[in-house]
Amino acid sequence: MTNNKKDLNNKVDKIEKRETFSTSLAAFFATLGSAVGLGNIWKFPYLVGNNGGGAFVLIYIFCVFLIGIPVMLGEFYIGRKTKKNPVGAFKELRPSGPYRALGYMDVLAAFFIIFFYSAVAGWVYSYIFKIIRGDFSGLGSLSVGDASSLVENNFNLAVAGGFAPIFWQGLVLITVSLILIAGVKKGIERITKILMPLLFGLIIIVGIRALTLPGAREGLNFLFKPDFSKVNSTALLTALGLAFFKLSVGMGTMVVYSGYFTEDNNLIDTARKVAFSDTIVSLLAGIAIFPVVFSFGMEASSGPALLFNTIPLIFSKLAFGNILLLIFFLLTAFASTTAMISLIEVPVVFISEELNLDRKLAVLISTSIIFIVGILTVHPASYFGEVRIFNMNFFDLFDYISSNIMMPLGGLAVIILTSHIINKDEFKRELSNNNSLDNGSLIDLLIFVSKYITPLLLLIVFLNSIGLI
Ligand code: TRP
Repeated sequence: MTNNKKDLNNKVDKIEKRETFSTSLAAFFATLGSAVGLGNIWKFPYLVGNNGGGAFVLIYIFCVFLIGIPVMLGEFYIGRKTKKNPVGAFKELRPSGPYRALGYMDVLAAFFIIFFYSAVAGWVYSYIFKIIRGDFSGLGSLSVGDASSLVENNFNLAVAGGFAPIFWQGLVLITVSLILIAGVKKGIERITKILMPLLFGLIIIVGIRALTLPGAREGLNFLFKPDFSKVNSTALLTALGLAFFKLSVGMGTMVVYSGYFTEDNNLIDTARKVAFSDTIVSLLAGIAIFPVVFSFGMEASSGPALLFNTIPLIFSKLAFGNILLLIFFLLTAFASTTAMISLIEVPVVFISEELNLDRKLAVLISTSIIFIVGILTVHPASYFGEVRIFNMNFFDLFDYISSNIMMPLGGLAVIILTSHIINKDEFKRELSNNNSLDNGSLIDLLIFVSKYITPLLLLIVFLNSIGLI
């Protein structure tokens, strides 16, 4: 056999061997599992709190429509068309030129995010253990001052407590590894199909409880009543970064997942449903949190500590507070686990396809790197002294570089590729499943937005974020 022929056979083999999700519904749950994560339950509420409430929510929803969904569809196109990891996908679509670098940036961005993400997921896992052990159960009877110092102490232990944070982060990584090793259908599909509906059910329970509290109206006003005096360029930039982070776009996750979609998957429909359901989960998290915050006269803008300090404190004041707290942290653990699966899947397919290694080995290599570098993030200060780069610790640095630089840049590159460089008919063919779907006008609208509006907004925001305008 000639070499060329061998190559071709290898290729056919690989594509045939590549697993897919069994149905469009399974693809939806998996993709939603990627989107729903710590972003909804940890980031969204505190960013809404810090940026003035309702107006920020509105800007965020605009960002989801005008930027998030178009970029997601760009990635869906690239992923389902090539059925490859980001590096392989861009190499196939643009064999020469700067686009080759984009795939590598995607893989690097995935690592950066996982470094801090797995640390926070570790804290969540450890809180479940603490809640079951009863660490927060006596709080209700203490004065607010005593209770809050106890809660803060608990958080400091979770973050800085010697070996503990490393143990919990390790446990998160082992859990995710086992799911990834099981594969696309038996691992990712099976787990997201169970966890996503469960998560919805649980968050609705906590939300209903919150709505029966005296501060419900104030909480809802804060979340939904826009006060535009609070809107500035930082809020806009933050909303955009959040939309990217939330929808898992700008760094290859959606390229990888859509490579597992079946040929009859209606891509526009999937993107729309995922974005919609994800936003609903974020709003439900806000509905579960703000009424409680206002009922107890706490600050809505308490920053990242909202989830780990404020929530245990205020939930402990409710009847059956401990059970609610357990439900809340369980659903957060589900959300962060399914999101982590999608994040780690990026380096896993990259390693297995580009270096031609077995999937199990690729999982092992990826999680080992994450575990070792992750130690820097889990607790930089206690192991390495307070190392600061650009006045940020490693945790904030990884978050900043990935959310504010790599993801907007990656998103911009994807949108320019799919709306300006790729042949328009080809793009249309993929999004209409070979013209079998009657969605031509929707695609035209998408192409218009992707061509003119999305890149312009992204460019403005990106230049602003690096300080040029
Ligand atoms: N979307 C997830 C969240 O909100 C996090 C996440 C998963 C992610 N995969 C991603 C973020 C890819 C950016 C890129 O928590």
